[in-house]
Amino acid sequence: MTKEKKKKEKIDRSQFLSLAWLGAGLALIGETLGALGWFIQPINDGGFGGIIKAGTLEEFPPGSITLVKEGRFFLSRLDDGSFLALWQRCTHLGCSVPWEEDEDQFHCPCHGSLFDKLGEVAGGPAPRPMDYFRVFIQEGEVFVDTEESFERKAFDPSQTTQA
Ligand code: FES
Repeated sequence: MTKEKKKKEKIDRSQFLSLAWLGAGLALIGETLGALGWFIQPINDGGFGGIIKAGTLEEFPPGSITLVKEGRFFLSRLDDGSFLALWQRCTHLGCSVPWEEDEDQFHCPCHGSLFDKLGEVAGGPAPRPMDYFRVFIQEGEVFVDTEESFERKAFDPSQTTQA
């Protein structure tokens, strides 16, 4: 191998390494921007933070409590047929509150807060009723707007939506 050829090969290796580093750097920047974009994009694709189609009116008999997982809320259909959407988040320290069918109430597993079907505090350290979301009905379908939650001091029928 001639000296000149060795020199050219060395330059090629050096260029190759530079290009490899450049490529790796660009890939890292691209992945970082992609991940950042995913985190900061507005949530309006029908998941939590947007409008959730919960189901048809017939799917929620009066007196039922239904967890709508993708919206992180319970849809409580009251005995008069109206709807109340309760955020699953405990108003004490934010744990997810399950509905306990055999207790007929929400029972937070973290510190024992209890809430009734209307989301009102029935016991434990929770400082206020469960927050609620606005419900609206269109052409027999029940929708819940999870973009904005509402705090309250007590249940009031104005928090419900008539079918
Ligand atoms: S977070 Fe629910 S009782 Fe504390």
